[in-house]
Amino acid sequence: MADRLKNKTAIISGGATGMGGASSKLFAAEGARVAIIDRNAEAAEATVAAIRAAGGEAAFWTADVSDEDAVNAAVRGVEATYGPANVLFNHAGTIVIKPFLETTLAEWEWLHAVNVRSMFLMTRAVLPGMISTGEGAIVCTSSISAVAATPMEVLYDTTKGAVHQFARAIAVEFRDRNIRCNAVCPGFIRTPHGLREIEDLQALGVDVSDAALAAQQGRIGEPEDVARAALYLASDESRFITGTHLFVDNGFTAV
Ligand SMILES: NC(=O)c1ccc[n+]([C@@H]2O[C@H](COP(=O)([O-])OP(=O)(O)OC[C@H]3O[C@@H](n4cnc5c(N)ncnc54)[C@H](O)[C@@H]3O)[C@@H](O)[C@H]2O)c1
Repeated sequence: MADRLKNKTAIISGGATGMGGASSKLFAAEGARVAIIDRNAEAAEATVAAIRAAGGEAAFWTADVSDEDAVNAAVRGVEATYGPANVLFNHAGTIVIKPFLETTLAEWEWLHAVNVRSMFLMTRAVLPGMISTGEGAIVCTSSISAVAATPMEVLYDTTKGAVHQFARAIAVEFRDRNIRCNAVCPGFIRTPHGLREIEDLQALGVDVSDAALAAQQGRIGEPEDVARAALYLASDESRFITGTHLFVDNGFTAV
């Protein structure tokens, strides 16, 4: 076991699978008590079991992070078990891939609820406890899509633009209370979300072939590539860094 998050309680929304799952495992291996909040109880249970089998400390709470009562209940549950959170990784999110003129108001509202309202609800629920400890680190999952648009992803790109600024706004308002807030902005990553995105874009004629991905970001990213960046922003090693956007895209947005 390493100790970059020793004695810290870390809440990870969407911590069951993909980059969230990789982060749950990495944060626990670095000494954190990991609290997964995810709607997928089966996957969350498997991730918790893997962490415990490796000698780490973790538990999960089932919640839809767009639901106010469910978020508040889950955070209260975490605090009752582990005490106030020192780290919050707002990672849960999803995507709608469709020609813009075929998208519906219901899809717009739903995606904003899952990707943006969730960050508002989670952060608002966690902050009072975090402030009571005198410090804290929040990491929000944004995306290359916050600054580089893809056809068929107007709804998604818009939510990630909001997340991008959410992280900054929280950083500015809470700096005087020793709370940092940053965003990780992944490129295309090999997760259930990322692989479905590539498949759906290809079906709609958007070129995200292996060759296109190789030209844009060298290769597809691995969940651990992002988990390591999130770990840095969650740990005290980044103590003078707040309100920043850390792109984990192997140069996609630099080209
Ligand atoms: N994979 C990529 O290429 C990529 C790139 C940039 C950003 N992202 C971001 O990563 C996140 C998706 O995660 P992933 O790629 O690790 O994939 P993933 O689909 O494996 O993980 C998403 C996790 O979030 C959970 N989740 C989704 N909606 C939820 C809800 N309403 N309530 C509670 N839990 C919920 C899922 O159960 C799952 O465990 C999103 O925020 C997405 O915008 C992904």
